[in-house]
Amino acid sequence: MPTLPRGPRFAPLQTYRFATRPFEWLDTWRATYGDVFLIPSLNGPVVMGTTPEAARQVFTADPDMFAPFGVTALAPLLGDGSLLVASGESHRRGRKLLTPPFHGARMRAYGEAMRDEVEAATARLSPGLELRAHDLTTTISLHVILRTIFGVGRGPERSEAVDLVEGALGGLHPALVFTRTFQRPWFPPYRRFLEGQRRYAAFVDARARAHREANDGAEHILGMLVDARHDDDSPMEDAEIQSHLLTLVIAGHETTSITLAWALHELLRAPAVLARLRAELDPLGPRPDPDAVARLPYLDAVVKETQRLRPVVTDVLRVLRMPMDFMDHRLEPGMTVAVAIGSIHRDPTLYPEPEVFRPERFLERKFGPFEHLPFGGGHRRCIGAAFSDHESKLVLAALVTGWDFEPVDATPDVPVRRNIAMGPSRGVPVRVVGPRAPGG
Ligand code: HEM
Repeated sequence: MPTLPRGPRFAPLQTYRFATRPFEWLDTWRATYGDVFLIPSLNGPVVMGTTPEAARQVFTADPDMFAPFGVTALAPLLGDGSLLVASGESHRRGRKLLTPPFHGARMRAYGEAMRDEVEAATARLSPGLELRAHDLTTTISLHVILRTIFGVGRGPERSEAVDLVEGALGGLHPALVFTRTFQRPWFPPYRRFLEGQRRYAAFVDARARAHREANDGAEHILGMLVDARHDDDSPMEDAEIQSHLLTLVIAGHETTSITLAWALHELLRAPAVLARLRAELDPLGPRPDPDAVARLPYLDAVVKETQRLRPVVTDVLRVLRMPMDFMDHRLEPGMTVAVAIGSIHRDPTLYPEPEVFRPERFLERKFGPFEHLPFGGGHRRCIGAAFSDHESKLVLAALVTGWDFEPVDATPDVPVRRNIAMGPSRGVPVRVVGPRAPGG
């Protein structure tokens, strides 16, 4: 077997470069070292695979070959019950329980609520107002996820929930997520996160108690977890419920809000694409049936192209529990294997002129699960993928049919790290031109 190409040497500078500008560095390293190479990380060397074949090999392998990456750093933040740190039987059990509400009819039932949240969040917009599109989309997706998880609509209850989530997320500094080194009381973001986590847990407990007492069969994820029973008929422990709900709120709103902000960023710089999208949406009228919107092919292509060009997650990682033959190399237990989503999405042999935002490419050919993979793949593929696609489509449709925006200036945003995800550097500054009637 050939020797595994050694990528850049471990040095604080390389780690910093990869953490802050992963897309550029992945391109450079792939050009220098080939399709698979070793890169340094704070958690030891990572074998990076940059092709669809690498993705296929990781996502179709036996799940028991892998442990999740970064457990030592993530478990104290999210709790042992979190899907992101669970493996084996507890991971399978958690997914079985958490997957259904984010799929099928239960997911589609949130369609009207998603559109309502856009109407509420845009009610205060007025011509000439300048704002960061990412702030607007964050408000919308945070409200959507809080409704889904806790069933909270508008009012003081929701303001409390928003404060709590913002408190916990505000302290979630990238340095905390990748290593335990900074999980120390002297690091102010860590103290903030702990305080936020404690208040969020108390909120979850109070709502769980209220749900048990009311026994009203309310349809939200908290209620579903409270009512769930293990195989031996025992209920879930409070700590497990808190852990799942913290993970869902962290994984479930910042990611979708970033995709939505990027979609606006790209559409405002591609007037022909925006015009074609509106030509597809306008005939459905001002308050269309959400399911009809979600089925539109060009809207689907716009969301997919945004996810391709601006992936929120750069790569997915797995730690090997047993030896693996990967891309003609023998990897040993303890090594980390990664699939570079960012590299695959920018491969010119798959996506000609990869830097260009061109949704048509998704109408011209079908891309497989190892070629377009914003949500990762295999046994850990994002459980919120269908929900997030649905939300992205409905929110984007409501924003572009209801409002005209323009970029505040010609400077484009570039991807920068925000917690685990990569988001737009300036938050997509836009100016409101005014409300718009379909066809206007
Ligand atoms: C644009 C939106 C989103 C993107 C790009 C995204 C991306 C990802 C990725 C790349 C992974 C890792 C997959 C892997 O390891 O193969 C993941 C996992 C996960 N995501 Fe998402 N996600 C998004 C939205 C959501 C939403 C809306 C939710 C839930 C409400 C969610 C919940 C989760 C959970 C719980 C996991 C862990 C799954 C596991 O380890 O079994 N995500 N996501």
